[in-house]
Amino acid sequence: MCGIVGILGNHEAAPTLVEALKRLEYRGYDSAGIATINDQRLDRRRAMGKLVNLSDLLVHDPLAGKAGIGHTRWATHGAPNVGNAHPHQAGKVAVVHNGIIENFRELREELAGHGISFVTETDTETVALLTQHYMDQGLSPRDAAAQTIARLEGAYALCFLFDGEDDLLIAARKGSPLAIGHGVGEMFVGSDAIALAPMTDKITYLEEGDWAVVTRTSVEIRDHAGNIANRAVKTIQINTASVDKAGYKHFMAKEIAEQPTVLQGALAHYINADATGITLPEPGLDFTQVERMTMVACGTAFYACLVAKYWFEQIAGIPVEVDVASEFRYREPPVTPGTVALFVSQSGETADTLAALRYMEGKADKIVSVVNVPESSIARESDLPLPILAGTEIGVASTKAFTCQLTTMAILALQAAHVRGRIDDQELADKLSNLRALPGVLNLALGIEGKTQEVSRKLAETRDILFLGRGAMYPLALEGALKLKEISYIHAEAYASGELKHGPIALVDKHVPVIVMAPRDALFDKTVSNMQEVMARGGKVLLVTDREGAKTAGDGVWDTILMPEIDPFLAPILYAVPAQLLAYHTAVAKGTDVDQPRNLAKSVTVE
Ligand code: F6R
Repeated sequence: MCGIVGILGNHEAAPTLVEALKRLEYRGYDSAGIATINDQRLDRRRAMGKLVNLSDLLVHDPLAGKAGIGHTRWATHGAPNVGNAHPHQAGKVAVVHNGIIENFRELREELAGHGISFVTETDTETVALLTQHYMDQGLSPRDAAAQTIARLEGAYALCFLFDGEDDLLIAARKGSPLAIGHGVGEMFVGSDAIALAPMTDKITYLEEGDWAVVTRTSVEIRDHAGNIANRAVKTIQINTASVDKAGYKHFMAKEIAEQPTVLQGALAHYINADATGITLPEPGLDFTQVERMTMVACGTAFYACLVAKYWFEQIAGIPVEVDVASEFRYREPPVTPGTVALFVSQSGETADTLAALRYMEGKADKIVSVVNVPESSIARESDLPLPILAGTEIGVASTKAFTCQLTTMAILALQAAHVRGRIDDQELADKLSNLRALPGVLNLALGIEGKTQEVSRKLAETRDILFLGRGAMYPLALEGALKLKEISYIHAEAYASGELKHGPIALVDKHVPVIVMAPRDALFDKTVSNMQEVMARGGKVLLVTDREGAKTAGDGVWDTILMPEIDPFLAPILYAVPAQLLAYHTAVAKGTDVDQPRNLAKSVTVE
């Protein structure tokens, strides 16, 4: 979850390190730090909180040198204070780390046995101390780092810098992503290619267990067994401007507004130009052979899977099991022949989802992933990676990735339904043409922004909020509650409308707004009954529906958000917009940090 960077450059490293960290801040913002080598001497600066504090510190107390490493932290071991901030240094070794060293206690005890003491509460300090310990025994920095890496258990992306060595970085990867960037007479290391994009577009991704010796003119990569590994240098395309807010107040606002455009790209990628068929990337997937699907993800991506379950079961007749990755990976579920495993992840690096994928390797007939980052571990380890083409998502709260995940899975469900003979050519063409019209409808839906802003001012004053939905709108209710709590810090829960009376209705009183997500579909009347139950108990219902729905629901609701009409099949994609806008404007009204909410990070590479 932390972001790491390393530079062997031809210019002052500190400004470039800070710039790269800015692009990695989505991975954590509890503290930040850099270390450089100047005149062969290692020195470092660290600051608590966001990167801006480190930048301020560097203005007053600059760091010279053309080689350096940097870190932005999401705290795991030890409070987010300066002492626990990376880079960690022991003697001549400085190290930055993303991940968790699981055997750090044993290593600590061993080092303590040699009379070595610790000054931080972190697992990472152990790495620096162990490396220095091996150097004290006469090993070179390279060999000491290699010996240390071989002893580490857990997950890590590491970058080492050594006092007296201004042309050497050691990088290592296991369980956390790491990329090497190739410049001209310069070399870079970064948690992802986005961090390195302003410096280079030539990237080598380290694979699991790889470690690399990097100088300004060379990279030597070894695999976990110590053999030289040839890893491709890829030319990647990342728009360096893509991390701009483009005039919006927050990345989240920009990413919500971008949805019609990115969705259009995703649709064009999968739907044939004449809108009569679907093309999946090679090697494709033969849905006639699929007996069941297992879908696994975390957070918002998990809710996208819950929606997809309704789609695959209802229109394609394929039984679907959905689980959160952190549970699935240790549950040891039996896997029967004919199972397709599908993993959904924006980052493609979520540790639990990746571990779940690895559990299914060799067990499922096919591993499919629905990912936003095409070069991510989850994409690379799948048989069929399906890109969602949402573009870089910076706001910690996922928005456009969610709608693009849904769109990709809707297309997949239609493909499955068609080849299994559950819908004919005409029905497929109709659904595809509805999908093609979706960006336009989404654009219309963005017109509710003023209304959501007005309602959100009232929501911002409440302590608890409930969300209700039925059928495929139930996961949307879950998504609405997650979005709201993560950025506005208001307690929110979601229930399937029919479940309310089995307990949660006890929470309803005049202080608790109940947001009902209900397009006028086959289940609408049932939802209205549940809504009446809430209103009969003094509950304040905010109904999110279309014009027909509002007419049928009658009077008595606290407020209504009117959505455009939509094919009920596609309603979950459209109704993401009010879920997102309500959360966004409530957070803005509360004055919270929308793009970087407390305690969270964008890419969760620890379990
Ligand atoms: C919520 C959110 C998270 C992520 C989850 C999975 O807004 O963004 O719940 O959806 O951490 O992340 P990915 O999709 O990268 O695997």
